Amino acid sequence: MARIVGGVGCSHIPAIGAAADRGMENDAYFKPLFDGYGPARDWIKTLNPDVVILVYNDHASAFSVELVNTFVLGVADDYEPHDEGYGPRPVPIVEGHAELSAHILECLVLDEFDMALANEMTVDHGLTVPLTVMYDKPAAWPVRVVPLCVNVIKYPQPTGNRCFKLGQALRRAVASYPDDLRVVVFGTGGMSHQLQGERAGLINRDFDTYFLDNLCDSPDVLTRLSHLEYIRDAGSEGIELIMWLMMRGALKAPAERYRFYHVPMSNTAAGLVCYEETLND
Ligand code: DHB
Ligand code: FE
Repeated sequence: MARIVGGVGCSHIPAIGAAADRGMENDAYFKPLFDGYGPARDWIKTLNPDVVILVYNDHASAFSVELVNTFVLGVADDYEPHDEGYGPRPVPIVEGHAELSAHILECLVLDEFDMALANEMTVDHGLTVPLTVMYDKPAAWPVRVVPLCVNVIKYPQPTGNRCFKLGQALRRAVASYPDDLRVVVFGTGGMSHQLQGERAGLINRDFDTYFLDNLCDSPDVLTRLSHLEYIRDAGSEGIELIMWLMMRGALKAPAERYRFYHVPMSNTAAGLVCYEETLND
């Protein structure tokens, strides 16, 4: 049977991808960040997942604002990096797992989560930067990816609680897949940041610390946060953190193996957590 063996929470700041693509990891500005990624890369190599369910958001790249779905599951064989204005990132094509995707889609819909499905889509920095963070620059990504795209850019976004419950449903779906697959769920985006308006550049270390301190063992205090609280405390784009709650919902008894937090990175606080599932059900 397939099994969820871990979870990763990870910021997706586009500058991180651009720095890696240009070989700037040892520049003074980026070195402390990339140094902090080393232990997480070692950890995931040891955990050795076959598949990543990558919970991310599209930034009006594959999906224009003409059609905004709350939750979209990718069911394709592969996903090309999107051209976000500077040409597509020079990273490997993202190999999907169409059979696992189809199974998860069926389970989620029968579990009463009304998913949209994407037979074909490109993937932007929201998906490719977390792969860079965890896997550096391989010739081919060492995992297959099931993309799960969440609307965090257009009001009304789903609640953090809804994301948590969808994570729990993901766990049920994975557990009923017959093949032996080791699955890790990535929740991406965040941490605190605001890219526009009078508060552009906002970073709230206290809020980020509160989020990181509670996510593993007391996620219920976070699932109760309202959209207004995210915007007030974490900035308008800080609401991306609801995707970390989906990752957490997919884990039953996580143990925190690594945590890293670095500010500033671009306009954003870069956070990273690695959780290992301790229940073997
Ligand atoms: C930045 C962060 C994001 O999450 C994003 O989608 C775009 C830009 C930034 O900090 O520059
Ligand atoms: Fe973003």
